[in-house]
Amino acid sequence: MIIQFCGMSGSGKTTVANGVKSLLEKDGVRVEVIDGDVYRKAICPDLGFSKEDRNENIRRLAFIASKLSQYNVVAIICAINPYDDIRQEVARTYGNVSTVFVNCGLPTLIQRDTKGLYEKALLPDEHPNKIHNLTGVNDPFEEPQSPDLIINSDSENVNDSIEKLYQFVTATLL
Ligand code: ADX
Repeated sequence: MIIQFCGMSGSGKTTVANGVKSLLEKDGVRVEVIDGDVYRKAICPDLGFSKEDRNENIRRLAFIASKLSQYNVVAIICAINPYDDIRQEVARTYGNVSTVFVNCGLPTLIQRDTKGLYEKALLPDEHPNKIHNLTGVNDPFEEPQSPDLIINSDSENVNDSIEKLYQFVTATLL
């Protein structure tokens, strides 16, 4: 099974994925969290944050996910994954894909700002530290039209979100 997350930076994708991984591993299910931050460094150092590069990033992560899923590893692609065309391509290319939208409003993301990215994106245009292509601020995030599951990480308790995804995965694996 492949789960492709989509959701903005800081929305809680990694937290939810790691929480679900712990629960599934207790059931003897093997899980790999294919985290954008980690895999970008390892296998996508040539890629930036243009639409083409983001889509190529997802294409590579999905390929790895598909290989792992052939060995019954639940592969969670944990990346912003902001564009609908690549999400649909991944779902079309590999049969066993579920799309999970980790939804969190911009005010909450700006308030949390764990990596300081939102503060930098909101700097004045001429500021040397300004980020000009942060997803959700000055770069697109296309909300998925019919995701298989939505996690509302700004209104749900994190353990409830983890449990919700765990139940979804368990039901899908049966
Ligand atoms: S994706 O758009 O290609 O799916 P991915 O999840 O791999 O993105 O990487 C996003 C991570 O890169 C963010 O969590 C953040 O740490 C970092 N990052 C650096 N610059 C940007 C940017 N302009 N937009 C989004 N994320 C960025």
